[in-house]
Amino acid sequence: MTYREPARRTQSLAAWLSSATVPDVGLTIYGCGPDEAVLFRELAPRFGVVPTITEAAVSEATIDLTAGNRCISVGHKTQITNSTLLALARAGVAYISTRSIGYNHLDVGYADSIGICVENVPYSPDSVADYTLMLMLMAVRNAKSMIRRADIHDYRLHDVRGRELRDLTVGVIGTGRIGAAVIDRLRGFGCRTVAYDNRPATSADYVPLEELLRVSDIVTLHTPRTADTHHLLDHQRIEQLKPGAFIVNTGRGPLVDTEALLTALDSGRLGGAALDVLEGEDGIFYADCSNKPIESKQLLRLQELPNVIVSPHTAYYTDHALSDTVENSIVNCRKFENRKQQWI
Ligand code: NAI
Repeated sequence: MTYREPARRTQSLAAWLSSATVPDVGLTIYGCGPDEAVLFRELAPRFGVVPTITEAAVSEATIDLTAGNRCISVGHKTQITNSTLLALARAGVAYISTRSIGYNHLDVGYADSIGICVENVPYSPDSVADYTLMLMLMAVRNAKSMIRRADIHDYRLHDVRGRELRDLTVGVIGTGRIGAAVIDRLRGFGCRTVAYDNRPATSADYVPLEELLRVSDIVTLHTPRTADTHHLLDHQRIEQLKPGAFIVNTGRGPLVDTEALLTALDSGRLGGAALDVLEGEDGIFYADCSNKPIESKQLLRLQELPNVIVSPHTAYYTDHALSDTVENSIVNCRKFENRKQQWI
C-alpha cells in the first residue's frame, strides 16, 4: 500500500461519510500504547469506527477482545503465531491491519489461506530517514564516547575527533521509500552516495554490492527482512568493507550477522556501528530491563563498545508518524468494511 498524506485521505473519506448513511464499524486495537490510545479515541469517531482499545497483545488468551469485530489492528512488537491467526479467523476476524511497514511478526500467506486479509499501514519515511542521518552523524562524530566522558565530567577531547560527511562516501543498500529519503537528505551534506538495490528504480548512483562495500565509509541498510536479505552483511561481506567503515542499521536486525560484526569491531577493523535494530531484539526492546539480567550476550558485548550505538527500534517513533499510523489504521478498517458491505 502506498503512502498518501493522511490529511487528504481524511477529508475525502470523512466528507463521503458525512454525506452517506453508513453504520458504525468496530475495530479492536491490540498492543495499544497510551499515546496511540489518545489518538485512536480522538480520530475513530470521525470515520464511524468504534474502537476497542487494549494494551494486551493479540493471543489466544485475548481473542475475546475482538468482541465480534471483523477488523483488528496489531502492533509490530509481538509475534503472532499461526494458531492465534486460526483462533482469530474462527472468532470472525477477516482483516488485520498492522501498525508497521514490516510484516515479519506474522505469516501473511497463512493468514490469507484462512481468509484473513493483512495490510500494513504506510507512514512517511521521514521519521526513519531523519533518524538514520542522526545515527550516521553520531557514529562519525564518536558521539557515544564523547557523551560517556561528559557524563562522568571528563571533558577532554580524547578519542572524539570526528569526520565530516562531505569527505565520505555513503553506501545505501535498498533504495525504496526510506533509502531514497536518506539519499535526498545526504545531498545536503555534500557527500558522495552510491546505492545498491536488486530492483533499482531511482536516479541514485547504482553500483554492484561488492563495489559499494569496497568504496563506502558508511554502509546503511534499508531493505526489508526476507530470506534473501538474511545476513545480507555476513562475515564475508563485512570483511570486504573498507577499513574504518561504519555500519548503520535501521532496517531489521537479521540483515547483519551480529557475530561477524562483533568480530570485526573487536579486531578494530571497523570504525563503529549504529544499530536501531538487532538480531534477538524481541522481548528485550520495548521492555524495562534495567533490573533484570540481559539474556543476549551479543547485546551486552555491543553495549560495552565505545564506538557502537544501540537504540531500541526507535527510528519510526515520532509524533507525525504515530498520528499517520493511527489514522491510516482507522481508514484501512473503514475501507475494508466499506468494500465488504459494498457501500462504495
Ligand atoms: P520499501 O519496500 O519502500 O523499500 C525496500 C527496498 O529494498 C526496495 O527498493 C527493494 O527493491 C529493496 N530490496 C528488497 N530486497 C532486496 C535485496 N535482496 N537486495 C537489495 N535490495 C533489496 O521499504 P521501506 O519503506 O523503504 O522500508 C525498508 C525497511 O525499513 C522495512 O522493510 C523495515 O524493515 C524497515 N523499517 C524500520 C523502521 C524502524 O523503526 N527502524 C521503521 C520502518 C521500516
